[in-house]
Amino acid sequence: MKIPNHIAIILDGNGRWAKSKGRPRSYGHVVGCDNLEKMCNVICDMGVKYLTVYAFSTENWKRSAEEVGVLMNLFRRYLKRCERNAKKRQMRVKIIGDPTGMAPDIQDMIAELEGMSAGYDHMFFQIALNYGSRDEMRRAAAKMTADARDGKLRPEDMSEEVFASYLDTAGIPDPDLLIRTSGEQRLSNFLLWQLAYTEFYFTETPWPAFDEKELMKAIEAYNNRDRRFGDAKS
Ligand code: FPP
Repeated sequence: MKIPNHIAIILDGNGRWAKSKGRPRSYGHVVGCDNLEKMCNVICDMGVKYLTVYAFSTENWKRSAEEVGVLMNLFRRYLKRCERNAKKRQMRVKIIGDPTGMAPDIQDMIAELEGMSAGYDHMFFQIALNYGSRDEMRRAAAKMTADARDGKLRPEDMSEEVFASYLDTAGIPDPDLLIRTSGEQRLSNFLLWQLAYTEFYFTETPWPAFDEKELMKAIEAYNNRDRRFGDAKS
């Protein structure tokens, strides 16, 4: 079985999963958070080199203040706990998205986690927080314009590789497999540039119930695809 080099996951369905159990949405987020820790280890042990997850979008601020508060506290707890796991698994952790939109103490935790794991290379784990693909491209365009103004970037040197180097995912290979849990079949502003040739897998299973067995189904489906990159035969 071919193991994808890079798996991206849109973690969806925490709220609906909790509702189906007669519990508040916040319970779904707590279990979703624990499941991310568990599945990150499973994915690492499988030999996947890159994992990128969509945890909080630039649009998620529109949720109730109460729910946003619960999520921020969960991120605080998760970022702290992630340090231990990063060390244990020699995993480099990077936050993609705009950290300046997060609370100052969360920004400090992000800097700390990225700093302490910067030298690890057994696995590369990207967490999208305050991330939106259009916002990422807007920020990249602003940086490119500033570099052009300062004479560091010439229009004739602009290639796809140069453009990609301005994105939050600079240096990270594009995902091979995208998984979205809980039935929705859309990208919701996630990695629009990077997913150009990625295989998509959608499952009805909500994120808190997405386990190793479900992951294997996704990888099996990936193995049955005839991957093409615009060529006639892959
Ligand atoms: C999707 O479920 C989940 C979110 C938008 C919240 C973020 C994800 C987690 C808490 C998992 C852990 C992540 C980290 C980095 C700690 P939903 O609320 O959109 O569910 P619904 O579509 O059923 O309402």
